[in-house]
Amino acid sequence: MENLLYFEELDSTQTYLKEHASALHHGTVVCADRQTAGRGRYDRKWVSAQGGLYFSILLQPVKTDYLPNLTQLMALSVCCALEELDLSPALKWPNDVQVNGQKICGILSEALFTNPNCATVILGVGVNISQDGLDQVGQPATSLKELGAQADKLVLLSNVLDYFWKDYDNLLAHGFDTIRAAYLRRFAALGKPISVRNGTQTISGTAEDISPRGTLLLRSAGQLKEIYIGDVIV
Ligand code: BTN
Repeated sequence: MENLLYFEELDSTQTYLKEHASALHHGTVVCADRQTAGRGRYDRKWVSAQGGLYFSILLQPVKTDYLPNLTQLMALSVCCALEELDLSPALKWPNDVQVNGQKICGILSEALFTNPNCATVILGVGVNISQDGLDQVGQPATSLKELGAQADKLVLLSNVLDYFWKDYDNLLAHGFDTIRAAYLRRFAALGKPISVRNGTQTISGTAEDISPRGTLLLRSAGQLKEIYIGDVIV
């Protein structure tokens, strides 16, 4: 694979790319067998023992119009690659991937702004493959091994990236609507009661739709609310 930097151990592939972004090219992928300081969303720790797939990809420059949708494209790409292993993954808005209601993949997006219209984006992806310790991650999690599926890490990485690049240009030019139908087919909570937490606020309702912008449309107390960011907790 072109543009791949592979390490046995790093503190975090995400941190590595952040620190070296200016010296690396668009599309560079950094992968590590294990991370000693893996990071998740909202400053959470991402347990990164040997056996998981941990990688980050450098994207630059990116027009900022559809920036949040890049993580959704990556989540969809992971789903498509897992479907090739005969699994039935589902998307938990905005960008977790679950199988049987348990998390198998998380995605972290970080942007470095060079000017207001243009950013360097680093997408970090963790997929649970065969590592131990998933009972300690603080939420229901599963792995390919637990599901009886097998995958070579680099083949899985390459498949995820193929799906990602296939739709990347179109997404950046025209937005989330270009992947909305594919996303909705895998959006497990559609029509179901959920709660969304954003900071200290929690809002409950029915997941009515995902808008053409990729935001969550939640029917709550008779009103349709557009949610831009948050964690679905039910
Ligand atoms: C989340 O669900 O909270 C996002 C988790 C993202 C983890 C990946 S593993 C590779 C990359 N390096 C990190 O330190 N984090 C991301």
